[in-house]
Amino acid sequence: MDARFPSAVSGCSVENAGERAIEGANREASRGANRGAADGADAALQVEELCVSFGAARSKIAALDRLSFRLRRGEIGCLLGASGCGKTTALRTIAGFLRPQSGCVHIDAQCVASPQKWTEPERRGVGVVFQDYALFPHLDVAGNVGFGLRRHTAAQRAQRVREMLELVGLPGSGARFPHELSGGQQQRVALARAMAPAPRLLLLDEPFSNLDVDLRERLAHELRGILKAAGATALFVTHDQLEAFAIGDQIGVMHQGRLHQWDDAYSLYHRPATRFVADFIGHGVFVPARIVPCGDGARLDTPLGPLEHLTDCPLPGAYPQGRCDLLLRADDIVHDDGAPVRAQIVRKAFRGSEFLYTLRLASGETLLAHVPSHHNHRVGEWIGIRPEVDHVVTFPVGADHPGRTPAADVR
Ligand SMILES: Nc1ncnc2c1ncn2[C@@H]1O[C@H](COP(=O)(O)OP(=O)(O)O)[C@@H](O)[C@H]1O
Ligand SMILES: [Mg+2]
Repeated sequence: MDARFPSAVSGCSVENAGERAIEGANREASRGANRGAADGADAALQVEELCVSFGAARSKIAALDRLSFRLRRGEIGCLLGASGCGKTTALRTIAGFLRPQSGCVHIDAQCVASPQKWTEPERRGVGVVFQDYALFPHLDVAGNVGFGLRRHTAAQRAQRVREMLELVGLPGSGARFPHELSGGQQQRVALARAMAPAPRLLLLDEPFSNLDVDLRERLAHELRGILKAAGATALFVTHDQLEAFAIGDQIGVMHQGRLHQWDDAYSLYHRPATRFVADFIGHGVFVPARIVPCGDGARLDTPLGPLEHLTDCPLPGAYPQGRCDLLLRADDIVHDDGAPVRAQIVRKAFRGSEFLYTLRLASGETLLAHVPSHHNHRVGEWIGIRPEVDHVVTFPVGADHPGRTPAADVR
């Protein structure tokens, strides 16, 4: 069984199934981390079972709860989650501004933080880009970028500053002052400053959160290009999934201090390990379904009719009486005027090339569908739909987690 795919968790409560799914995801990440150590050379960052909490015993907040993941050299990782889920705490612990209560951080196979071992932040070889840029206002751009290059000669420093400004697309701006630059330009200077000493690891804490949405998307792609060109190993944190998809090779979805899944963007979307990830990433709903034996394999009975010939359908024994919840993404539902299944449009959101329709079946289930925007139907109209499910994602029957509801996505 794929440990990231909890559909075969049977005979346990939903809560336990969720817990087990996270345990599975953490175990996988840990195993990955351990493999990294065993493989030796290529693990640039390895975080293992990291726990950090704040406050006194009674009112303790677990900001990080057994966080484990691994980054290879030259890889860009991204921690993705809502405000308060522990992203900054993770970065601060890796950078050395916070001590973990348990677990450890390895940088280039050297333990830099654990309850027993401690390396001071300035000796970790880590560069940090903060949310608010934190440029020195009294220094010009060259002074800011060259700030960490104290051991260099003046000529070496000038050369390195020139290289860094080229890399971030600001050649010749060394004499300008931060207040003369736009937010996006200041952010690039902050990036150049963090990269100038060639750190072993670069940490970026929501570096685009103060910028306009348009600029953020462009910069996200540019940042990836800059980091890859420099061969940097980086850990980026954000609450914005499009930013995470644009930047990260590997993305970790966090909720309340716990890592639910550490995976590439495609797998997070198509193979979510927990209901939380399924709900947090992309647009989708859960509908009740039943797995029944069919020929040599199984078929899924759903409110949209039976789904057959599925390559990755769980076996009926995976759930009590084969009953489960099926994840249906907006792109699993295709609008087709000739389809026998009809659904009523409850809401529609224009997205340029397509509409995101919220639909209701006669049986009462809600669905979401991406439909090309030339199919401009009215709210209240009944339209034909058919399922086109490439990836079967099922979970034990149960209430949604208390996080975002799919409806909150529909704007
Ligand atoms: N210095 C601190 N003292 C007490 N609680 C803190 C401190 N830093 C963070 N927390 C708490 O830890 C949790 C995670 O915070 P943080 O890592 O800043 O989240 P994020 O960066 O994902 O928004 C939150 O509940 C926050 O209130
Ligand atoms: Mg934060």
